[in-house]
Amino acid sequence: MKTSRLADCGNWILDRFPLASLWNDHMAHYYAPRNFNFWYFFGSLALLVLVNQFLTGILLTMNYKPDANLAFDSVEYIMREVNWGWLIRYMHSTGASAFFIVVYLHMFRGLLYGSFKHPRELIWIFGMLIFVCLMAEAFMGYLLPWGQMSYWGAQVIISLFSAIPVIGDDLSLWVRGDYVVSDATLNRFFAFHVISIPLALLMLVLLHIVALHEVGSNNPDGIEIKKSKDPWGHPVDGIPFHPYYTVKDLVGVGVFLFFFAAVIFYMPEMGGYFLEHANFIPADPLKTPEHIAPVWYFTPFYAILRAIPDKFAGVIGMGGAIVVLFLLPWLDRSPIKSIRYRGGLYKKALLMFVICFIGLGYLGTQPATPTATTFARIFTAIYFGFFLLMPLYTRWEKGKTEPTRLTHQPSLEERIPDLIATFEEMTVSQPLTTKSGITLLPRKPDVTGIINVSIRLAKKLKESLD
Ligand code: HEM
Repeated sequence: MKTSRLADCGNWILDRFPLASLWNDHMAHYYAPRNFNFWYFFGSLALLVLVNQFLTGILLTMNYKPDANLAFDSVEYIMREVNWGWLIRYMHSTGASAFFIVVYLHMFRGLLYGSFKHPRELIWIFGMLIFVCLMAEAFMGYLLPWGQMSYWGAQVIISLFSAIPVIGDDLSLWVRGDYVVSDATLNRFFAFHVISIPLALLMLVLLHIVALHEVGSNNPDGIEIKKSKDPWGHPVDGIPFHPYYTVKDLVGVGVFLFFFAAVIFYMPEMGGYFLEHANFIPADPLKTPEHIAPVWYFTPFYAILRAIPDKFAGVIGMGGAIVVLFLLPWLDRSPIKSIRYRGGLYKKALLMFVICFIGLGYLGTQPATPTATTFARIFTAIYFGFFLLMPLYTRWEKGKTEPTRLTHQPSLEERIPDLIATFEEMTVSQPLTTKSGITLLPRKPDVTGIINVSIRLAKKLKESLD
C-alpha cells in the first residue's frame, strides 16, 4: 500500500516534470568514451569542491560580520567558539586551494588531449569564464577575514587599476568605494563573494556541462567516438555514464577526500601557502607587511606582473596571460588532438610551458631580487611564446597516424605486477629474525636499482618527446 503511494507520488511528479528524460539524457543514456583515465577525475572533483564551497560558505556567513571593526574578530569567534566552526572554516579555506589545484589539473588535461579544439571550443570558453570568476571569487573572499594580507593584498591589486591611463585613478576609486581599502570595500566584496559571483559560477558550470553533453566528451586518444556507431545508434567505443562513470568517479572522490581531510586536520595553513601567516594579524592600515604576496594560485600571474618593468605594461601582461588562454582553440592549428599522436614540437613546448608556469608560481611567492626578476622575465617570454608561436609550430610538426577506434591502455590493476617488479628492483630484501623466531622481510632502498629505474624513465620520457 505504502509502496504504491510512493510510486503514485513519483508518477505525479514525472507527469509534470521531465526528470526521467533529464536523467536518461545526461546520465543513463549519455555515452562517454570507455577509456577515461586519471585526468578525467577532475571535472567531477571540481563539482564536488564547488558544492563544498557553497555549503561551508553558507554556514560561515551565519556568524561572519562584514564590518571592518568586527570582521577579524568574527572569524576568530568562528574558530574558537562556534561548534565545529574551525572545521567549517578550514574546509572552506582549504577548499579554495583545492579548487585551484583541481581546476589547474582539469585545464592541463585539456592541453594534453586537445579538449579545447573543434567541436569543444565553447566548453573551453565557458571553462575560461569559470576560471576568471573563480579568481574574482577567491580574491574577494580573501579580503573578508580582514587580516594584514587580506588588506594589503587588496590594496596592491586594486591600485593596479590606477596604472590604466586617463580612467585609472577613478576606476580604482570606484572599485574600492573609498580612497583606501576600507569598510565600504569590505561590504561590496562580501556582497560579490556571497551572492553575485557564486550565482554567475553556478550558471556558467551549468552552461559548461550542457555544452559538453551537446558535443560529447573528448578522450585520451582524441578521436570522436560518435564516428563509429552500432546498429542501435550508440557509439561502439562508448559506455553509459551511469553506472560506469558515476561509480568510477566515486573512487576518485574517495581518494580526493583522503588528501583533503589530511590537509584540513594536519596542515590547514600548508606552511603559509593556503593561509598566509600575516593574515593571523588584524588589518592595520598604518603598517605595511614586509613582504606582500598573493595566495599561491595567483602567483604565476603576479610574477608576470612584476617581471615587466613598466606598471601599465605589467598589468597588460598579467591580463594578457589570461586572455591568451581564451584564444587557445584558434591558436592551435594541428589537426591532431591528443598528445599521444602529436609531434615532438608540441610535447616539448608543453613541457617548457609547465616548467615556466610552476617556475613563475614559485617566483611570485619570493621577493623580487634581480636574479628572480631575470628568471621571471625568461619564464614570462616562454609562457607567451608557447601560445603566440603555437600557430607556427603546430602547423609545422608531423604527428603520428591516429587510430580510427579507441586504443586499449592498461588499467591500474593491469599495471600492478609491473609496479611490484619496479618496487623490487629499487629495493633489496634484508631478512630479519625477531627474538620470538619470526622471520620478517623488510626492504631497503637500493641505489643501483633506483639509478637503473631513473635512467629507464628518463629514456622513456625522451622517446615520448620525439
Ligand atoms: C567550477 C569549475 C569547473 C567545473 C565544475 C567543471 C566541470 C566539468 C565536468 C564535470 C566535465 C566533464 C568531466 C570531465 O571531462 O572531466 C568538464 C569537462 C571539460 N571542462 Fe570543465 N569544469 C570546470 C572548470 C573548467 C575550466 C576552468 C576549464 C578550462 C578553461 C574547463 C574545460 C573543460 C573542457 C575542455 C572539458 C571537456 C573535456 C573533454 O571532453 O576532454 N573546465 N568540466
